Amino acid sequence: MSKNFYITTPIYYPSGKPHMGHAYSSIVADIFARFKRIEKYEVLFLTGTDEHGQKIQKEAKKNNKDPKIFCDELSDNFRSLTKKLNLSNDDFIRTTETRHYESVIGIWNRLIDSGDIYLGKYSGWYSVSDEAFYEKDEIEDKDGNKVSKSSGSRVEWLEEESYFFKLSIWGDRLLEFYKNNPDFILPSSRKNEVVKFVEKGLKDLSISRTSFSWGIPVPKNNKHVIYVWLDALTNYISALNFPDVTNTKFKNFWPADLHIIGKDILRFHAIFWPAFLLAAKLSPPKRVFGHGWILSDDKKMSKSLGNILDPIEIINKYGVDQLRYYLVKEVSLGNDGSISMDNLKNCINSDLANNYGNLCQRVFSFIKKNCNNKIPENTNLNKKDKNLLDNLINNLPHLIKLMNNQNLNEYIKVVLSFSFEANKYFNDSEPWTEKKKNHKRMEAILFTIIQQIKNISILLNPIVPDATKKVLTTLNFPSKNINFDSIKNMNNLNHKIELNNLEILFRKIEDDN
Ligand code: ME8
Ligand code: MG
Repeated sequence: MSKNFYITTPIYYPSGKPHMGHAYSSIVADIFARFKRIEKYEVLFLTGTDEHGQKIQKEAKKNNKDPKIFCDELSDNFRSLTKKLNLSNDDFIRTTETRHYESVIGIWNRLIDSGDIYLGKYSGWYSVSDEAFYEKDEIEDKDGNKVSKSSGSRVEWLEEESYFFKLSIWGDRLLEFYKNNPDFILPSSRKNEVVKFVEKGLKDLSISRTSFSWGIPVPKNNKHVIYVWLDALTNYISALNFPDVTNTKFKNFWPADLHIIGKDILRFHAIFWPAFLLAAKLSPPKRVFGHGWILSDDKKMSKSLGNILDPIEIINKYGVDQLRYYLVKEVSLGNDGSISMDNLKNCINSDLANNYGNLCQRVFSFIKKNCNNKIPENTNLNKKDKNLLDNLINNLPHLIKLMNNQNLNEYIKVVLSFSFEANKYFNDSEPWTEKKKNHKRMEAILFTIIQQIKNISILLNPIVPDATKKVLTTLNFPSKNINFDSIKNMNNLNHKIELNNLEILFRKIEDDN
């Protein structure tokens, strides 16, 4: 079995400010990337920016800037977001890089060689804002304009010479592929939409444009630039040094294990992308997960409603772990989910400050006061102690399965219940009473609870990496040991040296904050 794992986020259009939706996709992908590393996989985690197309060219012009210089500035906003969100991405790709350019030319040439591209004339509806073509039945009249039914953005009538990809001949192969790979599209509710769309019959896809120039020119016909979605999707293999398919990166990491995307771009990833790849004689990715919308107070976030929650503001005010935890705890992955400042505060207080944070704080300060700040070593555990530890260890296969099915919410629920149980165990065991009655018993209780804190911290690490690192550092536990073997190992804590001071984990948020 290969122990490599390749995971990606969408590459974002950098024209707007990064917002909560971008942060959400990136955080979700980061959590899975970190989890696979804990599972001891060699992980490649990619994110980046999508910089070509008519929309960016128009924006650059509005700002009186050369598009490349404009993109350099904008892309930096997204690169710094990766730092702010504490993403563990291994690479950040920009579609204006040479490596990407070469890769797009590479896939184009493969599609030419396979006979899947022909020159024709396109006429139809196009949305610049979505960079997408729409059929007549996909648009409607609104306030005197023609708009896309799904995204609400304006469409315009296009008539131009265009290269086409013979998508129409790939429908049956795609349906067969979905059938043979039942988990290719998750959640499964989204799969039905895709299958229905393909079953209706696919039309050939326009894959070049002549009416603007900001893109990768078509080889041997530079009147045309390559359609921004063929360009953008290819980023996932550009980062593996495609078109060189013999290099180790490509060999180890393609096909990708998981593309995390929002449901708005499912069609591109679940239909066009595997069709391009199959035609180019490359393997399609193993899985595309289309998550839902982040809503603010039950409405889609929008400037005019004034309900935009800015991820940077929240991080500056409350902390990055707090935002990461809240988003994935509150929003059920795959569904739309509403977020609000009130819920954010409650969630931080109840799950982080009062539950996990409180557990660590009280146990460490008890050890400081009563055990010279060293973890007692007394492995004379009773049934209650063993039950506490075994319950977590026996759940590991289940937890791994949950994460490998992107069942993130259930995972968090289970791990948090361990923390709740641990707090209860500490209360019920009353080490403060045992201290006077039976010192050895107190030691066994503390040994147990510290093991449990270590284990819970490892399991929570992908979600709240900073806080769990602080806790593990307090225990003198090296980061390189953050993996599942360490959970099963009861001998990997140092009992001879003092605990380090625990920094504040999660400040409780008061009402007026
Ligand atoms: O579509 N809730 O870029 P984009 C949740 N460049 N997620 C959201 C969201 C919301 N309210 N709003 C945006 C593009 N997203 C293309 C992608 S990939 C080869 C090219 C997230 O900047 C979600 O992941 O419009 C969505 O799919 C993505 O941002 C769209 O980002
Ligand atoms: Mg978009």
